[in-house]
Amino acid sequence: MCGIVGVLGGHEVAPLLVESLKRLEYRGYDSAGIATVNKGRLDRRRAVGKLANLSDLLVHEPLAGKSGIGHTRWATHGAATVVNAHPHRSGPVAVVHNGIIENFRELRAELSDAGLACETETDTEVVALMVRMHMDRGLAPREAARETLRRLEGAFALLFLFEGEEDLMIAARKGSPLAIGHGEGEMFVGSDAIALAPMTDRITYLEEGDYAFITRQGAEIFDTEDRRANRETSRIQLDQTRIEKAGYKHFMAKEIAEQPVVIADALKHYCREGRIGLPIALDFTTLDRLTLVACGTANYACQTAKYWFESLAALPCEVDIASEFRYREPPLPANSFALFVSQSGETADTLAALRYARERVAKTVAVINVPTSSIAREADVALPILAGVEVGVASTKAFTCQLVVLYLLALKAAVDRGRMGADDLSERLGELAGLPGLMNQTMAREGEIATIAGAVAEAQDVLFLGRGAMFPLALEGALKLKEISYIHAEGYASGELKHGPIALIDKSVPVVVLAPHDALFDKTVSNMQEVMARHGKVVLMTDAKGTAEARDGTWKCVTLPSVAPALAPILYALPAQLLAYHAAVAKGTDVDQPRNLAKSVTVE
Ligand code: F6R
Repeated sequence: MCGIVGVLGGHEVAPLLVESLKRLEYRGYDSAGIATVNKGRLDRRRAVGKLANLSDLLVHEPLAGKSGIGHTRWATHGAATVVNAHPHRSGPVAVVHNGIIENFRELRAELSDAGLACETETDTEVVALMVRMHMDRGLAPREAARETLRRLEGAFALLFLFEGEEDLMIAARKGSPLAIGHGEGEMFVGSDAIALAPMTDRITYLEEGDYAFITRQGAEIFDTEDRRANRETSRIQLDQTRIEKAGYKHFMAKEIAEQPVVIADALKHYCREGRIGLPIALDFTTLDRLTLVACGTANYACQTAKYWFESLAALPCEVDIASEFRYREPPLPANSFALFVSQSGETADTLAALRYARERVAKTVAVINVPTSSIAREADVALPILAGVEVGVASTKAFTCQLVVLYLLALKAAVDRGRMGADDLSERLGELAGLPGLMNQTMAREGEIATIAGAVAEAQDVLFLGRGAMFPLALEGALKLKEISYIHAEGYASGELKHGPIALIDKSVPVVVLAPHDALFDKTVSNMQEVMARHGKVVLMTDAKGTAEARDGTWKCVTLPSVAPALAPILYALPAQLLAYHAAVAKGTDVDQPRNLAKSVTVE
């Protein structure tokens, strides 16, 4: 992960670097640092922890210069210390890095033989040392960087700055994204376009294996074969207002609250006059199988979609975790689609899984939030979820928007495969149209859910139960709670409880039961009774009918609007998110930037 930024500016760059790093902090916040060249002199400042610590340091120890690079770190190799913080420097070169240099041990040994010892625990330091070694041997910065890049294995986005060179940055991309921004007599580099948004909207994306020599006049880009490469420059549309907290205490609170609006936007985009507007190329008629691959929350969206594709379209589905899929060498039928779901569109494992599938299936489809991302660009068909920028590390609105797009795909598959007629489709689209309204009604329960969350926050362990398509939501509810409140939580299929996890139940364990009054309600209630018989504290989330039938004996009960059964996982995501959010607020954790996590996981 990690975020990197670089500026060859017309003015002092330290404030610009810090501002850009603020936009990249979602990629990691273990430490931050910047380096500049001023009157030929290369210097740097680094601080452990959030970016605010670096800003404080810069007040006391300012860094002048109109050329600079910066980094916000998610630690992979070596603890979060100042020594391990980027930029790493050796002699005339400073480097910032996102990714992992896999052969760093081998390079370290070689450098040590050449008399250059590492002082940090990081994999990145070898990059700086190698460039220095080549420069000590008489190579100019460009050649030294080129020689070094040839030796690096792994995934990286790198940016170099050199002593005595006020008009040069060298950028390289292999496996980790990098965007070059064009200004008027100024040039910028960033891990994504959002980082560069205040400075420019004219962006060139480096492609796999590219490197670039950047001066204030522009960028010379080379491909893996060292040939000059022409990469398209495009204007990026960035809605600034969506990157502000807009009065909310946390981005996560804002993003939860935005869901009725963004879901309505997504529906407007994909549904017109009672029809689903999806690319014609997506024809499911004779498909043998659909493979869905993703990580984390996006994977739970895929698991939910499996219920829809199988029950509505009778389309066999496999759902896989990207990090498992990519190394398992799964056979993929040629007459199948592989679908990759990713908010960021940059998750390293999901991208690798897509590359694996590309040669083997009829079509690869990406369901992404960032249309310019690597996954979007490399898939045959990219479907935006239109959630808007998601800043909170815990995914919320992206999850429900992913679910909506996946549900629309399942409806299309059902129609294509002759399993759904026009009337049924029109009824289901009508139900979807009503979803934003139901979400608004659900948001009105926030106060009540916050009170329950205050009580749940006292627990050491929490279980989430769901049946059918509510089971993946139980997994998601547990993930959301553990990642931001640090309370241990697990999700189970209700029917699995008695096969082991029931041993955990006692009077200290809250059990959140996600149970709309659907065809499986009675079965779930039986499992809930088994919990209550063992003094487990049940938090029942259901609708009015469910409340009337099953609230007796529960510890807490939240009554949600009644919703079409297929859409319940989307609607019930909101109370699960609110429960996690308010439990985290009650515990006083860092909601938007929980410990050890980062928003965009660009390392394996
Ligand atoms: C959890 C969360 C993660 C992501 C996962 C995949 O709240 O956000 O589990 O869902 O890291 O990320 P993307 O969707 O960007 O591929």
